[in-house]
Amino acid sequence: MNYENLLVEMHGKVALITLNRPKALNALSPALTAELSDLLDRLETDDKVAAVVLTGNEKAFAAGADIKVMKDWSYMDVYKSDFITASWERLASFRKPSIAAVAGYALGGGCELAMMCDFIIAADTAKFGQPEITIGTIPGAGGTQRLTRFIGKSKAMDMVLTGRTMDAEEAERCGLVSRLVPAEQLLDEALAAASRIAELSAPVVMMAKESVNRAFETTLSEGVRFERRLFHSTFALADQKEGMAAFAEKRKPAFKNS
Ligand code: CAA
Repeated sequence: MNYENLLVEMHGKVALITLNRPKALNALSPALTAELSDLLDRLETDDKVAAVVLTGNEKAFAAGADIKVMKDWSYMDVYKSDFITASWERLASFRKPSIAAVAGYALGGGCELAMMCDFIIAADTAKFGQPEITIGTIPGAGGTQRLTRFIGKSKAMDMVLTGRTMDAEEAERCGLVSRLVPAEQLLDEALAAASRIAELSAPVVMMAKESVNRAFETTLSEGVRFERRLFHSTFALADQKEGMAAFAEKRKPAFKNS
């Protein structure tokens, strides 16, 4: 898999995807998001891949959509192509677990891309923000919606209306990131978390992910009903039998993803 704007490395069953436009602080050009979408299509159907870690570099996870590419686009250009296009949203519909490992800037579309992952692990150097308002537009890849669900109305309004950035400590405090680690430990921590998930039953992990995501789409009673049906369906899997038998027999489970 050779891409111009991405690097891909396997760590066991974990695919480490590195956004790779360092000179532009990983600005998310149409070419980059198209490549990411293509890669995720491949990884989704590849049984050798159980989880994904998405990262950038020390200075930037990604500093947003590529302003230089889009600055002269007309209303009809963005409306007809439905920019932000499906290639951006591909990550949000990816069914395998995904972790964003964020150091440096995660701004605009960069913050939105990180929020499309299942959870975010941040280096102490991370800076999050939705600064679109400062360049005469608003978030367009889910920022007003996902950020509000992550951190609540008051903080989301503060971020989106002022365009200010928040540091990694504030991001952890308000629930945008799940873990905060020293920058030099970021990749180890993210890869260890993804590898831990990769050891578990793949279909059960997918069900757990689907069920948590349902919480953002439905009422509590419908969500609980949905969860219960998925919980019931785990009892049709050999992996549920194996997991519970292993517990009773005081041994490590050997999941077979079936
Ligand atoms: N698009 C295109 N190029 C970008 C970029 C972006 N979003 N962010 C940074 N770059 C480029 C810069 O133009 C610069 O390129 P040159 O060397 O060719 O001039 C290079 O990356 C390095 O950037 P800076 O010199 O600006 O670096 P800095 O350390 O001084 O500042 C920064 C860093 C504060 C992140 C600053 O680059 C910045 O403000 N970037 C833009 C952030 C932004 O507004 N993001 C939102 C984009 S809109 C969006 O994302 C819409 C959406 O919802 C999808």
